[in-house]
Amino acid sequence: MRLWGTPEGSALDPAFERLNASLLFDRRLYPYDIQGSIAWARALARAGLLTPEECQQIVAGLEAVKAELDAGAFAFQPTDEDIHTAIERRLRERIGAVAGKLHTGRSRNDQVATDLRLFLMEAWPRLEEGLRNLEAALVAQAEAHIDLLMPGYTHLQRAQPIRYAHWCLAHAWAFERDRARLRDAHPRLATLPLGSSALSGTPFPIDREALAQELGFSSVSPNSLDAVSDRDFVAEFLFIAAMIGAHLSRLAEDLILFASAEFGFVELDPAYTTGSSLMPQKRNPDALELARAKAGRLIGHLVGFLTVLKGLPSGYNKDLQEDKEPVFDAVDTLDALFAVLPGVVRTMRPRPERMRGALEEAMLATELADYLVRKGVPFREAHRAVSGLVQTALRGGKPLSALPLEVMRQHHPAFEADVYAVLDPEAAVERRTVRGGTARSAVEEQIRALRARWAEARSVTSPASHQRSTGAPE
Ligand code: ARG
Repeated sequence: MRLWGTPEGSALDPAFERLNASLLFDRRLYPYDIQGSIAWARALARAGLLTPEECQQIVAGLEAVKAELDAGAFAFQPTDEDIHTAIERRLRERIGAVAGKLHTGRSRNDQVATDLRLFLMEAWPRLEEGLRNLEAALVAQAEAHIDLLMPGYTHLQRAQPIRYAHWCLAHAWAFERDRARLRDAHPRLATLPLGSSALSGTPFPIDREALAQELGFSSVSPNSLDAVSDRDFVAEFLFIAAMIGAHLSRLAEDLILFASAEFGFVELDPAYTTGSSLMPQKRNPDALELARAKAGRLIGHLVGFLTVLKGLPSGYNKDLQEDKEPVFDAVDTLDALFAVLPGVVRTMRPRPERMRGALEEAMLATELADYLVRKGVPFREAHRAVSGLVQTALRGGKPLSALPLEVMRQHHPAFEADVYAVLDPEAAVERRTVRGGTARSAVEEQIRALRARWAEARSVTSPASHQRSTGAPE
């Protein structure tokens, strides 16, 4: 059964039919398609286009078709172009001609956009949860090792001492922004296109607000032509996924380095590493390497799909059928990563002796300059003096703290006996009590702030908390 006619005597080239078909991938939309169709049948009944009995027949038929699909007992046929066609074909087989009334005032254009939105609306709270689990694992590491210091890096060069907790939370904040992005994008995602029909709006008196409410959407699309063309929600989702991928890859790369013998800052749990088939001593950080790699495909989906959108004329175009595979793959990829990464983080063990061993005194040169600044010396002058001092120490093969006061004073007269106290990584870290700094109080403040965000609007994207549309602006 095709939903449209072909000129008398002509047939589709079977190869074209295969190219045209989306069933292979869009079959996974079936629960949403049926959910949408049931709501549509009820809306038609409310509008007087179906008798209560017809509506009842259609709804029961759709539920039976869903049961077949759930059980894997649905026999797809070669002429099933897509999941919408397949379900309607089967409905007709089960309940007869009345099935033909379901598509009244509806088009596959508003139907498919509704289905894909419903699919993502279901994924949303799960993705939020994945991010939160990862953040929670990072916070747990931070809290368990709040006093542990390590080198902080710029250009991958040892720069200044920081708390290990500060490094953990740096990653947690990035994921928290991703979570905020999901929440921000949700009202645009949960906008109902159904009722837009092919492009111009359904000619029947459908209560779209009631439809939206029944399906868990928070508003209805304000323009039918826009509604069937709009795949912003796909592009926005793919961007968020790509951003999460980029954040995961940075975390992964940090940890791959930190777990190497050269750094030795953390030990990964054997549950997340593999052995080498050749070299018995090796543990390979495969989980992290894959996390690092998946960013590539997530970014690829975003770029690929934006390229599909670019230059499309308004209205539905078959190009838009290409929206589904990247969405499915991105959701699957994130689900797979969120199932693993929180565990990797939760179970890793920092190695305090290795971190402390990497805290060389040269990383405290800035502290000397800041010391002079506190004595009233302009920073540029202080920086010059300390550069000279560092050179002297390097030439003599000595740590800064081994330089006698008179040598220090040759570089700047403002140095006094109390200078040696600043050459302590602990003190350096604790001096940064500024909001966002490395002092214990500032780091604890970050943890409190993250927790407060988790608590606020526990999930604005979960179906229970939908703000039903009242026509009020988002
Ligand atoms: N399989 C199609 C898609 O995924 C469904 C919409 C078809 N609409 C149309 N006018 N041919 O986009």
